[in-house]
Amino acid sequence: MKIPLLNAEKLSVVFGGLSALNGLDFQIPVGEIVGLIGPNGAGKTTAFNAITGIAKVTRGRVLFEGRDITGWPTSKVARTGIARTFQNIRLYEDLTVIENVMVASHTSVRYSPVEAILGIGRVYADERRIRHRAESLLETMGLIDTAGDKAGSLPYGSQRKLEVARALALEPALLLLDEPVAGMNPRETIEFGALLRKIRKDLNLTIGLIEHDMGFVMDICTRIRVIDHGIPIAWGTPKEIQNDPKVIAAYLGEG
Ligand SMILES: Nc1ncnc2c1ncn2[C@@H]1O[C@H](COP(=O)(O)OP(=O)(O)OP(=O)(O)O)[C@@H](O)[C@H]1O
Ligand SMILES: [Mg+2]
Repeated sequence: MKIPLLNAEKLSVVFGGLSALNGLDFQIPVGEIVGLIGPNGAGKTTAFNAITGIAKVTRGRVLFEGRDITGWPTSKVARTGIARTFQNIRLYEDLTVIENVMVASHTSVRYSPVEAILGIGRVYADERRIRHRAESLLETMGLIDTAGDKAGSLPYGSQRKLEVARALALEPALLLLDEPVAGMNPRETIEFGALLRKIRKDLNLTIGLIEHDMGFVMDICTRIRVIDHGIPIAWGTPKEIQNDPKVIAAYLGEG
């Protein structure tokens, strides 16, 4: 079998005695869209936080392209090719839409502060390159007409798409999305699904996805990992997951 792009092995996270994640195995094969689902408080966001260096891994390890990245700082994880969005939208509300994307790109600028002072020409060239790239990402995400608007003034669904554009500015190989369609209406959700498939193909991405909208998850994911109370309870295709009694029981238990 091919090495999965991401391979989290027996991942555990403990918060002051509480076991938020307990022995999670989670693999994302190259080119797939893999879902991570489970009831509220199951540990889904904690799993993404552990993978991206935000939460401290208590046990287990995270392999990316076969390399052990467990415990790497978030900036280094981003540079190695993993970008993410957040359940609670994180944008610079008072900056414009395009500035939000450009700021995200700046982590990939190739000059030092001293070079920035000495080599103004190159700085301008980089600015132009970054602006051009940001415009093209906004075009892709269907946000180009709002490029000059304040990010905070966008409707909720557009803010979610802007978060994705910001993540893509890092030119990741793996994109992790935490509840990307939360707050979107059914039409926006369907459009977002089509968009996600398109960028997956056009940008050669692999995607990990946390989402409560089951229609969306079952439609878009190639495989799904289910967790409950921090423990992995199922892994399979959407069809297998839908018919798994353990999964049904976990969701019924939620009420
Ligand atoms: N920084 C933290 N400190 C202490 N406890 C935390 C922290 N982050 C999460 N938890 C706890 O860990 C558990 C898992 O939380 P997590 O946010 O990962 O769940 P989730 O599956 O993303 O839920 P939701 O679907 O509601 O977003 C919960 O009991 C939560 O209260
Ligand atoms: Mg969450």
